Amino acid sequence: METFIGVIGGSGVYDMDGLEGAEWVSIDSPFGSPSDAILTGRLNGVRMAFLPRHGRGHVHSPTTVPYRANIDALKRLGVTDVISVSACGSFREDMAPGHFVIVDQFVDRTFARDKSFFGAGCVAHVSVAHPTCPRLSAACLEAATAAGITVHMGGTYLAMEGPQFSTLAESRLYRDVWGCDVIGMTNMPEAKLAREAELCYASVAMITDYDSWHPDHGAVEITAIIATLTANAGNARALVTRLPDLLGQDRAPCPHGCDRALDHAILTAPD
Ligand code: ADE
Repeated sequence: METFIGVIGGSGVYDMDGLEGAEWVSIDSPFGSPSDAILTGRLNGVRMAFLPRHGRGHVHSPTTVPYRANIDALKRLGVTDVISVSACGSFREDMAPGHFVIVDQFVDRTFARDKSFFGAGCVAHVSVAHPTCPRLSAACLEAATAAGITVHMGGTYLAMEGPQFSTLAESRLYRDVWGCDVIGMTNMPEAKLAREAELCYASVAMITDYDSWHPDHGAVEITAIIATLTANAGNARALVTRLPDLLGQDRAPCPHGCDRALDHAILTAPD
């Protein structure tokens, strides 16, 4: 099978340079319109697709991002491996603004989004115990390290609804009681939907701030976030550019079974 890498770019990451045969294509989905057209092409011979999660011009809030249409459109295009790139806040002193975290767990606190492709006539319960793909995550770690980025392997991401940032009490709860490492607004339900769509999914979370718990950093400060976002966007490009060589053009079945997730799901067929 041929590798086809899909990159979902978050705040600050709205396009992708250097694609051979670059073309923006519009994909229809029964789940609605995706956030934007999808930029397709090849990088070092490997098929690539890029979708700006918030749309060019940042028109979708974390709540209104059409998560199901986005994952469905990537699947329809033939994408095999999805890399999520997104901004996040940090709950850990040692995970500083400008660092990247290859997230491997989530606490999903979102509540105003469609979270499943199933439900209308066909119910499926798919396992998301291990919601990210270790093989794809390892490639992201290697790419980040090669690009000279300070990167942390593994971390728990608190997905909040937003669009407001957390209160101090919430920030302390997520950090001190729940033991989360980073916080963002977009990786859920994206990761769950990717698993339902049998796509490998890895999350590269780019730290912009210390949320509101840090005594020396005060509340989330927008101008500081924007400056770090811009620097992080350059690093994200450097990371993504290295992935085609690391993943290669030929793709074996996922050793962790992401691409066969429904084989083990509990499914009820419509009568
Ligand atoms: N994205 C960037 N920083 C964030 C924070 N502190 N909370 C939620 N989402 C974020």
